[in-house]
Amino acid sequence: MWRGTSTTVLRVLAVLLWSVTCVWSAPAHIYVSPTGSDTNDGLSATHPVKTLQHVLDLMSRGRVQGDPVFVELMQGKHDLSSTLYIQSTSGTVVFRAYQGQTVHVTGGRHLPSGQFHQVTDSTVLHKLPHAAHSKVVELDLTAAGVTDTGQLVTYGRFIPVPVAPLEIYINGNPLRLAEWPNRSFINIKSVPDGANGKRFTYDAAGRDVTWASETEPWTYGFWRKSYDDFSEAVAHVDPHTHTMTLRDRPTGLVVGHYDPSDPLKTTGLQQGGYFRVINMLCELDQPGEYYIDRKNNKLYLWPNTPHQTLTSSDVVYASMINECITIESTAHNVHFEDFSLEACRHHGFELNNATNVTIKNLEIKNTGGNAVHCNGDCRSVSVLSSDIHDVNGGVFMGGGERTQLVSSQNVIRDNHIWQHARLAAFPNHAIFLQGVHTTVSHNHLHHGQYTGIWWEGNDHVIEYNHIHHMCLNATDCGAIHTLRDWTYRGNVIRYNHVHDTRRLMPGNGVRGIMLDDQYSSVVIEHNVFYNNDIHANIGGGRDNVIRYNVMYNAREWSVQVDARGLEHKEARRLRRELEASPYRNDVWKRRYPELYDILNDLPDEPKGNQIYNNVIYNKHGVDSVHYTGHGLRRSDYFNVHDNHRVCPSP
Ligand SMILES: *[C@@H]1O[C@H](CO)[C@@H](O)[C@H](O)[C@H]1NC(C)=O
Ligand SMILES: *[C@@H]1O[C@H](CO)[C@@H](O)[C@H](O)[C@H]1NC(C)=O
Ligand SMILES: *[C@@H]1O[C@H](CO)[C@@H](O)[C@H](O)[C@H]1NC(C)=O
Ligand SMILES: *[C@@H]1O[C@H](CO)[C@@H](O)[C@H](O)[C@H]1NC(C)=O
Repeated sequence: MWRGTSTTVLRVLAVLLWSVTCVWSAPAHIYVSPTGSDTNDGLSATHPVKTLQHVLDLMSRGRVQGDPVFVELMQGKHDLSSTLYIQSTSGTVVFRAYQGQTVHVTGGRHLPSGQFHQVTDSTVLHKLPHAAHSKVVELDLTAAGVTDTGQLVTYGRFIPVPVAPLEIYINGNPLRLAEWPNRSFINIKSVPDGANGKRFTYDAAGRDVTWASETEPWTYGFWRKSYDDFSEAVAHVDPHTHTMTLRDRPTGLVVGHYDPSDPLKTTGLQQGGYFRVINMLCELDQPGEYYIDRKNNKLYLWPNTPHQTLTSSDVVYASMINECITIESTAHNVHFEDFSLEACRHHGFELNNATNVTIKNLEIKNTGGNAVHCNGDCRSVSVLSSDIHDVNGGVFMGGGERTQLVSSQNVIRDNHIWQHARLAAFPNHAIFLQGVHTTVSHNHLHHGQYTGIWWEGNDHVIEYNHIHHMCLNATDCGAIHTLRDWTYRGNVIRYNHVHDTRRLMPGNGVRGIMLDDQYSSVVIEHNVFYNNDIHANIGGGRDNVIRYNVMYNAREWSVQVDARGLEHKEARRLRRELEASPYRNDVWKRRYPELYDILNDLPDEPKGNQIYNNVIYNKHGVDSVHYTGHGLRRSDYFNVHDNHRVCPSP
C-alpha cells in the first residue's frame, strides 16, 4: 500500500519536474566543421561553426542550451590552435563524429608538402651524410607559420615531462630524431670520473668528428640499468679522446657490454651502459628521421613514405599544442565518441579530478605524452573500445579514496593498445593504475618496450585481458607489474591471457606477472600463460595466491619465488609506506586483516603465499615452482599443493 502511494507520488513529481525542466532537458546540437565559419550559428549541419574553441565559447555564454548538448564534429581535420579547456558544464556534453564521418581532432598543423624543397645550402649539405643529399628535404618553418618548436627535454625514467617539443608525423606515422646507430646502441667503454661523473668514453668508429660540430646534440640510453632509460643533453664531445660529457649528471654511468648481435650474452650483473646519439643533422641517414635547426627554424627530414619522397598527397603534420583536451574537476558528464585525436605534443586527454567522463571508440595516437592522463581523484571515468598507439604511455588512471577504500568506479575496457612506449621504455605502460578500484577488462595490449599494466593502490580488477610481447626493449620487467608496498591490497588478476613475454636485452629476468620487491597479497587466478620466460613470480612478498591457472611452456620456470625481504633492502621504504597508510582503521582492518598486525609478524619473511590447483605443462622440462634461495621450501612461506603437472610425452 505504502509502496503504491509512494510510486504515484513519484510519478506526479516526475511529471512536474519534467514540465519545469523540459526546456533545459531537450537535447541541443551544435555543428562544427573545418570548412565552417565562426560567424555561423552552428545550429544546423548546413551552417556549422569552424572551431571547437568557438563551440566552448558559445556554450559558456549560454548561446547553446540543452541537455545533452551534442557537439557534432563534421568530416575533416579539426586542428586545435590551443588546448581545448573544458572547465564547466551545466548538463551532459557529447563530442562525437557526426553521422559516423571521419573526423580527426589534432593538436597539430599541416605542413604543406609543396613547401618542402631539396637542400641547397652548402653548409647543410656538408654536414649531411652523402647518401642523404638527394633524399632529405627541408622546410622553412617560419614561412610555414611555425615559430614555437619547443625545447628538447629529458624523457624516460620517472621524470614527468610537463611540456614536450614539436614532433613530426607523415601520413599519420611518427618520425624520429636523427640517430646513430640506427635503432641500436653503442657501449660506454670507460667512465673516467667514476659512476657518478658526467663523462664517458666510447668507440664510434670515427663518426664523432662530426658530432663535435653539432649545435644541439642529445643522447638516449640505458646508462646504469637495463630498465632505466632516458635521454640526456650532450655538453661536449671530444673526438680526439672519444669522450662525451653530458650536461646533467645521470643517475649513474657504467661500462656497457651490449652486443647487438647477441643481446642476451650478458646477464643481470652486466646491464646498462649503452646509448645512441640523437638529434644530430650529421646522422640524418635513414627514411623516417628528422632534425630541427632551432636557430634558423628549419626542418630537415627524410620521408618515411614508400617512395621516400613527398608528393602532394602526403600529409605532413607537426604537433603544436601541449595537451590537446583538458577537463577540469568542475566539468562533469562529458563524453567523447567516434573520432581520432592525434599530434598532441604532450597528453591527448588530461583530466584533473574529473567525474563522469567517457572516452569511447576513439583512436588516440601520436602523442608525446599519455593518450589519457587522469590526474588526482578521477571518478567514473571510462576509456572504452578505443585504439591507442604510438603514444608515450597509454592510459594513466588515478582515483578513488584510500582511507575508506572508496571505489573510483573507473573503467578501462575493450581497448586495443600497442606501441605505447614510442620514445622510451620506462615509464610508458599501456595502463598505469593508482588509487582504488579501477576495472581493467577485455583489453588487447601488446608490443611495449616495458610493461603492459603497472598497478599501484587497492582493489583493482584486471580481468579478461590479452597481453603479449611486452618488455621488448628492457628487462627486470613484467607484462603486468607492481612493486614494493605492503599496502597495495585487494587486487585481483584473473581470466587473462598472458604470453610471449621474454627477456631480449641484457639484465634481470622478465615475467608474465611480476610482483617485485615484496609486493604482497594479490590473487592471480584462472589465467592462461604461455611462452613467457617465467609466468609469475613472488619477489619476497606475502599473502599472494596463485591458483587455478593454466601455465604452458615456460622458458625458465612456471613460477619463481624468493625471500628477498630477508636482505632488508627495502625494509625502511616498506615501513614508511605502511605508516603513511590508514592500515589500522576499521575499514582496512576488516578488508585486509593480515596487514593490521604485520609489524609483529616477521614482516620481511615471505609468509602466507599459496600456489595451488594450477595446471602446468613445460616442454622444456623446467621447474613448476623455482625457489631462488635456500630454506624456502616451507609451507608457511609458500604453501604449494595440488598443482597438476602434465609431463610432456617424449
Ligand atoms: C644507418 O642506416 C644507413 C642507411 O640505411 C646505413 O647506411 C648505415 O650504415 C646505418 N648505420 C648504422 C650504424 O646502423
Ligand atoms: C624497441 O627498440 C627498437 C630499436 O630502438 C625499436 O625499433 C622498436 O620499435 C622498439 N620496440 C617497441 C615495442 O617500441
Ligand atoms: C585534485 O583535488 C585535490 C583536492 O582538492 C587537489 O589537491 C589536487 O591538486 C587536484 N588535482 C588536480 C590534478 O587538479
Ligand atoms: C555521474 O553520472 C551518474 C549516472 O549517470 C549520475 O547519477 C551522477 O549524478 C553523475 N555525477 C555527476 C557529478 O554529475
